[in-house]
Amino acid sequence: MLPFTSSGSKATPRHHVGGYSNGYPRGKTFDISPHRYQPRGTTVQRRRTQSLVRVALVAAVLFLIVYFCWPRGGRSSSSSSASSSILSVLSLGLLSGGADFQLETVRYHDLSNVQGTARGWEREERILVCVPLRDAEAHLPMFFSHLRNLTYPHHLMDLAFLVSDSKDKTLEVLTASMEEMQAWEDEKMHFGEISIIEKDFGQVVNQDVESRHGFAAQAGRRKLMARARNWLLTAALRPYHSWVYWRDVDVETAPFTILEDLMRHNKDVIVPNVWRPLPEWLGGEQPYDLNSWQESDTALQLAETLDEDAVIVEGYAEYATYRPHLAYLRDPYGDPDVEMELDGVGGVSILAKARVFRYGVHFPAFSFEKHAETEGFGKMARKMDFSVIGLPHYTIWHAYEPSVDDIQHMEQMKREQLALEQAEKEKAEKAMKLKESFGDTTGQWEQDRTKLQDFALKEKKETAAAAAAAVAKNKEKVAATEEKESGGKT
Ligand SMILES: *[C@@H]1O[C@H](CO)[C@@H](O)[C@H](O)[C@H]1NC(C)=O
Repeated sequence: MLPFTSSGSKATPRHHVGGYSNGYPRGKTFDISPHRYQPRGTTVQRRRTQSLVRVALVAAVLFLIVYFCWPRGGRSSSSSSASSSILSVLSLGLLSGGADFQLETVRYHDLSNVQGTARGWEREERILVCVPLRDAEAHLPMFFSHLRNLTYPHHLMDLAFLVSDSKDKTLEVLTASMEEMQAWEDEKMHFGEISIIEKDFGQVVNQDVESRHGFAAQAGRRKLMARARNWLLTAALRPYHSWVYWRDVDVETAPFTILEDLMRHNKDVIVPNVWRPLPEWLGGEQPYDLNSWQESDTALQLAETLDEDAVIVEGYAEYATYRPHLAYLRDPYGDPDVEMELDGVGGVSILAKARVFRYGVHFPAFSFEKHAETEGFGKMARKMDFSVIGLPHYTIWHAYEPSVDDIQHMEQMKREQLALEQAEKEKAEKAMKLKESFGDTTGQWEQDRTKLQDFALKEKKETAAAAAAAVAKNKEKVAATEEKESGGKT
């Protein structure tokens, strides 16, 4: 059985006190303004400012009319016709302005402009970045580092966080990180509108790896996660968003250009491959997200045998689906642009066109074709003829969280390592003691060795001398022979 499945987001609950149902003052709330985030004033204040501005405008216009149109002597006819044309422009402006004033709350949106295209950054297409959070305090610094590094123009990205069922300081750390982020000196680094949404879903499963990834907990957990995603999306999606990017907070490594890289494919729904690094003794790396897959006949047959409300979760021996998983098709040297059609998708990093959601595709919190949450989302998108694509060779890395087994194993290894070190230390100490108590013997050995060396040297010298003598003798012999031979010839 594979001890992991992902979907990764740890979205979920936390009950909090001191907030009002209208979202207003609980200390700081955040305004949704397209370019930066700032504490919002009260409605009353805003209204007052607006009416002051209006009065000032009307006064200015009246002044201009009086100035140009008051009958004056000595003016030529041409100048008076000029002033009357100015008057007509002014009065038209005043009239249409008056209409605007009455309907100031009406916004006009042409949704044909926010369909999403391959080069959204050039067309200033806005992305809504959705991040479900549950007890995610520890991961937030890394997440904000990722955000900062994203190359997609920051002012075109609106951020929406859902904080739910959290017992740690997720909300506090999140608020502090955002304040810091929007105060960065480089204005280009500031993001657009930021929304923090709090809602608990009664996620009772513990957040530790075993409980989260245990088979029994999966279906219920996935349905709650689906609810959380739907709440987050419907609360934060605005008519000007062209794209929605879902990202887990515990992604460890991802290209800075991931948004552009995924967008270039111009698909309705697209996901990268998700692996995770492992300690050396576990093999160094491993496929992580098994929720991105292609449908198989086996799985379809299995689905038919299941109860209406059953939810198949991938990556568990209990459901042997034999589906081709995006994760297992990875070739580290493969072309990162290769596409693969998918039916189910994992939620670690999904880029989708906003229109997919506008058409009604969502994260089923019930059994949709025997699937829920992101896998159900993929299936539903397919059912509505949207393209759902995975990139087998474009990989991002999820953080490694050791399982209970891993932790035990690591502790065991550590104990063994310590025992080994202890044994070596003892051995060294023993040797030291031995040396100390037989110190004289060591001296004797040294002397003996020197003597032996001397002896060997002497012997070597003698041999060398003998050899030299032999060579000399031989030379004499040769010389004598040569003399004899040459003497015979002449
Ligand atoms: C962001 O970029 C900086 C500078 O290149 C780098 O040190 C940091 O590790 C990056 N953060 C992440 C999460 O990749």
